[in-house]
Amino acid sequence: MTPANATERLLGKSALLTTDLDDGELDALLRLAERFARLDRAGIKTPLLECELAYAVFFDNSTRTKSAWAGAASRLGMRPVIVDGSSTQVAHGETASETGAMLGMNAHAMGIRHDLILGEGNPFMREVERGIGDYLRETEDPRKVPVINLQCDVDHPTQAMADALWLRERYPDGLQGLKVAVSWAYSPSYAKPLSVPQGLAMLLPRLGCDVRLAHPPGYQLMDSCMQAARTGATAGGGSFTVVDSMDEAFADADVVYPKSWGPWDLMTQRVKANREGDAMAMQDIERACLQRNAQHTDWICDERRIGLTAGGDALYMHCLPADIGDEVSPGVMARHRLNVAREANKKVYVIMALLAGAKIPGLDARLDSLSNVRTESTR
Ligand code: CP
Repeated sequence: MTPANATERLLGKSALLTTDLDDGELDALLRLAERFARLDRAGIKTPLLECELAYAVFFDNSTRTKSAWAGAASRLGMRPVIVDGSSTQVAHGETASETGAMLGMNAHAMGIRHDLILGEGNPFMREVERGIGDYLRETEDPRKVPVINLQCDVDHPTQAMADALWLRERYPDGLQGLKVAVSWAYSPSYAKPLSVPQGLAMLLPRLGCDVRLAHPPGYQLMDSCMQAARTGATAGGGSFTVVDSMDEAFADADVVYPKSWGPWDLMTQRVKANREGDAMAMQDIERACLQRNAQHTDWICDERRIGLTAGGDALYMHCLPADIGDEVSPGVMARHRLNVAREANKKVYVIMALLAGAKIPGLDARLDSLSNVRTESTR
């Protein structure tokens, strides 16, 4: 059972990075998500937030996270609405805090994906949160309108927590000492954000995992995230090391998470090009990213590399979509097709936990009574 005070501390909380959560809050959220998953499996309805609006704005494409947002909101009795960020007045220069106030005055929760430009997504979310908070305070409106990070430039917290839930299910004896290889992998499709590997680095060592991060030279991640990974390892009893060889990361790993991201210098060049609205420069940089990626086509998770892992049979993970034939061989993906789907399915419960935890006082007791009603009615 979740310690009640930790669950209550989630009230009103917008966890815009997993590092915004203390250990008790993180544990409470993961347990809440597991509880929502069990209730859902048992067919127990959880309409705890009926007639409320769950509004989400996406400044980038999404398949899984959009549907997880809609699925989570619906399971809680909320009405989910998802809009394309480029269709809002942000595209015409409306500030993040203004946008937050305007959207927050009508909504009961806000989801945001803003992951493409380093240094912009997370600050945007914090400004939206500030705008909503200021509006609610100044109008003496008691609603709690949490901002949920559906992927920014720094972290993809709903993904990292979904990954943690999947690992907790697969390794019920605990994650302490679990060897996880998080590796760059080749992609010809687009320069992918850095936030998934950064999110894993910040979360998994904190949960006790021994994380080896591998990437070719020039694909480093944000210093602040690497520092958080080391701090988390010390606090959580895990470890965090960085190597420049995929083989070295895979050696004896229990779990492998091979996934592409863009080269650091070019990703930072995008900041200026985007700020100046220089579409041509953005296209040139994207092309240069893919040319750089093409120097490392041998960074693929294939049968030979899986053969290097513990027992030659590590669990393969990916946030999806994966570039099959480039990031991962068709055979490895086929073998783990259901595993990655089950991994993806955890996100709906993480979002339920974030929404419900931030909005519902006495949540543990409310969930207890829902479980009891079902138990009594089936006697
Ligand atoms: N993993 C993930 O976030 O998927 P989407 O981009 O499809 O939402």
